[in-house]
Amino acid sequence: MGEFRDRWTAVGLEHQVEPGSSNPAIVDGHPLAIWRGENGQPNIWHDRCPHRGMRLSFGFVRGDTLRCIYHGWGYESGGQCVSIPAHPELTPPKTICAKVYPATTRYGILWTNLADEPSSPLPDLGPEEGWHPLRSLYVNCPAETTADRLRGADCGVPDAKAGNGGDGIATIETGSGLTLLIAIQAVGADKAGLHVVARGEDARASGQRLELARKMQRLRCALEAQ
Ligand code: FES
Repeated sequence: MGEFRDRWTAVGLEHQVEPGSSNPAIVDGHPLAIWRGENGQPNIWHDRCPHRGMRLSFGFVRGDTLRCIYHGWGYESGGQCVSIPAHPELTPPKTICAKVYPATTRYGILWTNLADEPSSPLPDLGPEEGWHPLRSLYVNCPAETTADRLRGADCGVPDAKAGNGGDGIATIETGSGLTLLIAIQAVGADKAGLHVVARGEDARASGQRLELARKMQRLRCALEAQ
C-alpha cells in the first residue's frame, strides 16, 4: 500500500484555477501544483520539478505546457519534459517526468486522488447540475474533527440540518430548500480546507450567495472555538 489512501479529496473550487495559471495546494502535508492550460483541462502534480526540485506551482503556463520558473524546463500535461531551454536541440529523455495525479471536476469542485493506483469512485451526491460556488475557507482544526464538528456547528443558516455526504464530505440542508455541500481537504495535521458549493433557488441569486459566503466566516469561528 502506498503513502496515500485511495480516496478522492477536494483541492479547491473549479473556478479558482483559471486557464494559464498555476497555484499551490497541500493535501495531507503533500505539496501540489494545480495548473490549467489553454485547453481548459486542470492538472494536479507533485509540486516538485524533476530537475532541481523547484516548486512547479511557481512556474508559468505557456499554451498547454507548464514551465518551471528556475531553468525554464517545459512539461506537457502528461508530466513529460518536452523542452530544455539551455539545450534547444535536445529531445528530453522519457525519464524526465513530473509526478502526475488525476484531476477532475464535479459539483464545481476540483478533486484528486493521491493513491498509487486510484480505483475508488468519485463522490456521488446525485446530478452534477445546479451547484453554485460559494467559497473556500481554511480552519485550524484537523480534517476529521472538522467533519464531526460540522454536524453541530452554528453556520448562521436558519433551520440548518447537517448530514454526512460520505468520506470527507458534509452537507447542510436548510428549511428553505437550500443544500450546502462542504468538501473537506485535509491540509495538514491541524488544518483543513472547506470548499463550499450550494444548490437551490436561493443559491441562484448572486446576492444570496454573497450572504451565504459571509456566513461561512461564522462557521469557521464556530469550528475553531469548539
Ligand atoms: S529546477 Fe526546474 S528547470 Fe531547473
